[in-house]
Amino acid sequence: MQKLTVDLTGKVALVTGAGSGIGRATAVKYAEAGAAVMCADIDADGAKVTSETINGEGGSAASLHLDVTDETAVEKSLQQTLDALGGFDILFNNAGVGDISYEKTIAVNQNGVYYGLRHGAELLAKRGGGAIVNTASIAGLQGLVSPLSMKANAAGMTEGGGIAYIASKHAVVGMTAQFAISYAQRGVRVNAVAPGYIDTPMTSMIKEDMQIQHEYEQLHPMARLGQPDEIATAVVFLSSDAASFITGHTLPVDGGYSCC
Ligand code: NAI
Repeated sequence: MQKLTVDLTGKVALVTGAGSGIGRATAVKYAEAGAAVMCADIDADGAKVTSETINGEGGSAASLHLDVTDETAVEKSLQQTLDALGGFDILFNNAGVGDISYEKTIAVNQNGVYYGLRHGAELLAKRGGGAIVNTASIAGLQGLVSPLSMKANAAGMTEGGGIAYIASKHAVVGMTAQFAISYAQRGVRVNAVAPGYIDTPMTSMIKEDMQIQHEYEQLHPMARLGQPDEIATAVVFLSSDAASFITGHTLPVDGGYSCC
């Protein structure tokens, strides 16, 4: 009988957006599961704090500056991971922004993930296999109910009303399925997580007003925001051999948001 384990000992993971929120929590959890972690972020200082935290707790990590909108830099980061940590087995394509402008949001959330998939999946396949997890969103599964955006829209204040974020995250779900099919026979599994509203710096504005926070919490049947650690646990599972027959799947981690 095979014992259920989520053990990443001997594996090397590259995490984008590792300087904050979900990326940082997942980098730490990868390390707790035994992986060495390359922490990459456009915020080099934030990435360094994450890698220092891991190293300070007895794990193995390094950090690098990475802008995922730069395809050449994304490809280079894979080699930098190999050079610094001696392997490359897992990619967590997580860097993302809220809705800033249509072009910038698509550049980070959609193109950035595409560059990681394109170069990461190919390298993993050439090395004998591995796992990729993308960060989608509940906004990749359906339209998004956002009390703050709805108030802003009513006042005519937003550029696109969150359209770019929705479009980019639906693209992540689609790319997850298509890359999974393309690489299924070359040993690379590709999955995604779809978080509900999570308590990170990206959503800090939600917590500025108790009434607004309550409205966001009530969108989830569990009536609360999620924690970065709860996303990290799902990502580590999907990255591990415990998920060996799961590919092309987007897993909601959303307190029930997407079942309403
Ligand atoms: P966060 O703002 O705490 O972290 C995002 C990280 O991505 C930051 O460290 C930032 O510097 C980095 N980043 C931004 N642009 C980058 C670029 N061009 N290149 C490299 N790094 C870049 O936000 P959070 O919440 O941890 O978000 C992580 C992912 O989770 C994003 O893809 C976001 O869209 C997604 N997400 C977040 C939800 C939430 O409620 N917080 C809900 C659903 C999805």
